[in-house]
Amino acid sequence: MDLWQKFCDMQAEFSKLYHAIAVLSWDQQTYMPVGGSEARAESLAYLQTLAHEKLISSKTKDLIYNLEYLKDDPEKGPIYNVVRREYEKAVKIPIALVTENAKTTSLAIAFWQEAKQKGDFSIFATHLEKVVTLQRQKAEVIGYDNEPYDALIDLYEPGMKTKDVEVIFKQLKEALIPLVMDITARQGKRPDLFNQDYAKKSQWDLGLKALQEMGFDFNRGRQDYSEHPFTISFDPSDVRITTNITTKSFPSSLYSSMHEGGHALYEQGIPGKWRHLAIGKAASIAVHESQSRMWENIVGRSKEYLSHLWPHIKTQFALELQTVDFDSFYQAINWVEPSLIRVNADEVTYDLHIFIRFELERDLLAGKLSVSDLPKAWDEKVESYLGIKVPNPAEGVLQDVHWAMGSIGYFPTYTLGNVIAAQFYQQARHEIPDLSQNIAVGNLSLLREWLREKIHQRGSILLPLQLLEEVCGSTLSVKPYLDYLKEKYLI
Ligand code: CO
Repeated sequence: MDLWQKFCDMQAEFSKLYHAIAVLSWDQQTYMPVGGSEARAESLAYLQTLAHEKLISSKTKDLIYNLEYLKDDPEKGPIYNVVRREYEKAVKIPIALVTENAKTTSLAIAFWQEAKQKGDFSIFATHLEKVVTLQRQKAEVIGYDNEPYDALIDLYEPGMKTKDVEVIFKQLKEALIPLVMDITARQGKRPDLFNQDYAKKSQWDLGLKALQEMGFDFNRGRQDYSEHPFTISFDPSDVRITTNITTKSFPSSLYSSMHEGGHALYEQGIPGKWRHLAIGKAASIAVHESQSRMWENIVGRSKEYLSHLWPHIKTQFALELQTVDFDSFYQAINWVEPSLIRVNADEVTYDLHIFIRFELERDLLAGKLSVSDLPKAWDEKVESYLGIKVPNPAEGVLQDVHWAMGSIGYFPTYTLGNVIAAQFYQQARHEIPDLSQNIAVGNLSLLREWLREKIHQRGSILLPLQLLEEVCGSTLSVKPYLDYLKEKYLI
């Protein structure tokens, strides 16, 4: 068997192993009875270690070494380079650190849950300190040019540097803080639509309608319930999403379906021929998030799409929305108001939550901020960016699971996703002149096909910024995003 075939077979082994890991994880978060958690955690940890060992094995190393001459090959080069990049990152991290990290974060998650429940940061503090120390060690073994945060952000956004993020965030911060003030000053009284029950079944059906119109392929995926909505791909032919439905707030289920649906279209759009190759996955976390946020916010909360859904919503929720007209409904869905909880934030204040997390985790990692000073630093930033006081740590520094999971460097991808979504969308509007008119009649296929061709079908053949350059002819820029927000909320 030739070496290239061996190289492809090796990737197929990984992909089958990850298929199993993904099914076990999906089940863990959807249908697994609580009693199964310990055994499931053990199985998952075992399989993940196995995958890591396989990736850094001498067999992988030999293949990469022997096939180096292919790195500039037009066809095989991109496939080779993705594997090589993953190998070079993984091989630097000793198995002992991987194991220690898994143990520490699973404990940290448990203590974080308790701390959040009791509103007591001290329960979580020592565990967070350990997590930060391990993440710092990880950054050291991976290596970086300027600061440890560079090494971690690169795990989610290949090629992205902390200082690039800093520049983008600074521009956004300077524009968004006054923009929020401008918008809130113009808003009248908040339409109160949500102080009643909305039937679960109707909410589920509304989410399904949106997914169908988006072109989610139910023969190659399904939707289930879970506490926290997520998307997981077993393979382009089987992509799972979940939604959460609370009866008191009906549009949130529609938007979690559209958000996860956006992620799922990306995964379903990966070419089937790449299913067992490392190249057959998304370009990066931020590019992934650009897809979910585009569908959720730019399309899902637009006047065009909501006016299309409105007659259907009026029928489904005839009693609940009896006295509500479209304008109040649209305003309620797009209400802007600084709030404490990131996941419930509107699209204009959302990024302010991300800046807080980015600045704090960067300082934690660099040793400029100690864990014991974190709650105070958090509260000060919330007051300065959002203008509100944090009443207790559960609604402040303890609200997100990310730090307990060791996902330092992940938060910026949410805002980068928003920025990239607006860049892609602006380009789509440019290339599809009647896009808005089509969305207004529920025809979402033009946008989906455009995204499929330009983004989904490329897998991770290009680095995120190369993809942006190729699709939009530009580098990362906040202008389309700020223009979109101003056009929507100020005109
Ligand atoms: Co998402």
